[in-house]
Amino acid sequence: MLERITVRGGRPLEGCAAVQGSKNGALPVLAACLLTRGVSVIENCPRLADTEAMTEILAALGCGVEWAGSTVAVDAATVRSAPLPRSLTSRLRSSVIVLGALLARTGSAVLAGPGGCDLGGRPVDLHLKGLRALGASVRETEEGIAADRGAHRGAEVVLSYPSVGATENLMLFAAGCQGETVIVNAAREPEICDLAAYLKRAGFSVRGAGSACIRVDGGGGHTGFVSHRVMPDRIAACTWLCAAAAARGEIELTGCRAEPIRAVTEELSRGGCRIRETDRGMFLSARRRFQAGGPLIRTGPYPCFPTDVQPMMLSVLATAEGCAAVEETVFENRFAHAAELRRLGADVETEGRVAVVRGVETLRGTDVAAQDLRGGAALVLAGLCAEGETRVRGVPHIDRGYERMEKTLSALGADVRRETAGDDTER
Ligand code: UD1
Repeated sequence: MLERITVRGGRPLEGCAAVQGSKNGALPVLAACLLTRGVSVIENCPRLADTEAMTEILAALGCGVEWAGSTVAVDAATVRSAPLPRSLTSRLRSSVIVLGALLARTGSAVLAGPGGCDLGGRPVDLHLKGLRALGASVRETEEGIAADRGAHRGAEVVLSYPSVGATENLMLFAAGCQGETVIVNAAREPEICDLAAYLKRAGFSVRGAGSACIRVDGGGGHTGFVSHRVMPDRIAACTWLCAAAAARGEIELTGCRAEPIRAVTEELSRGGCRIRETDRGMFLSARRRFQAGGPLIRTGPYPCFPTDVQPMMLSVLATAEGCAAVEETVFENRFAHAAELRRLGADVETEGRVAVVRGVETLRGTDVAAQDLRGGAALVLAGLCAEGETRVRGVPHIDRGYERMEKTLSALGADVRRETAGDDTER
């Protein structure tokens, strides 16, 4: 049934909400479960379309999977290298990181191309080049990718860009094979550290995660029981902080820390928000209209401003005082939400990779469509600052990353609900 998220704007946010476990942290950890010959119990795993798709992939490869609330147990005692059809892999981008783990565990892998948000070209050349450098034989076929482990030899792999997914794929492949692998120009995202923490608990040797040089001594691992708690979702935390910065108010988030989102909290502070860590998490107070006009906000690999928060930042800037420019350097086509923001009355112009936002007093609610996950979240946030009702379609995009976005925003005092869309062809 088609659904939409309906927002009645104009209310400041007040309240407290818990931050879910990280989607981008959970997905590689779930893929890593393939490497352990025992049971992994993954706690704080957000129950999302993407994580469920990943567990279905694990089940298709012979793992036992059992969900209980936000805990998922994966029994990888027996894993078989079944070809993964497009019906599974197209449901999420991270299906491609199953490649490294499955190859390492079983020696071969066949999978259809990955899905995920349409943010322009999303090649996997760095993943494949890296796996080849480590001795794997990888063929790109019309259907997707077919690979054999080959005579894996520990090697130095230099990534020409610190791709998060490629770093994860290579860590997983390297962990399950013999020899030492060094990944140079590795991604430094906190989710990489979370994956390394899981691998260490599972008996693998990984050093340097969080730096640009990661060393993996392959061939470790044990057959026992591994327990891991997924890190808090820093992008979800930023979403709620941006929501309060845009709609104003005072909110507390529990279960998250400031350090992994420093680039965002600095930007929000510059705009006039007061942010501090509390015993339980973080507190944000936004009593005045957001002040734009600082230096260009440029997205980039961690620790730069996260590309995943760029859409929400545009929503904050849409009703700010002043003008700001945002440059998207990570993805080539990540401004689909700008056109929808304009429908709400925002003054946003994009040219190539730069968006220029001139803040307006208020937005006007109307029907808008989420084109991708974070762009969809940004539209819901814009709805909080709009007069009247904003109806956001394309809810399955949003559900890929948030455990019921409307519930968290309602807990923070917003008037947001999920409805059956009825006639979804209204525009
Ligand atoms: C991950 C995150 C995503 C986030 C992104 C950047 C997950 C599940 N998703 O995506 O939310 O927006 O990091 O922080 O963790 N690239 C290549 N060739 C490759 C791989 C990547 O050219 O082989 C390019 C991509 O097209 C993109 C850039 O590198 O322009 C960054 O991609 P990458 O860091 O790999 O992002 P993902 O792992 O897909």
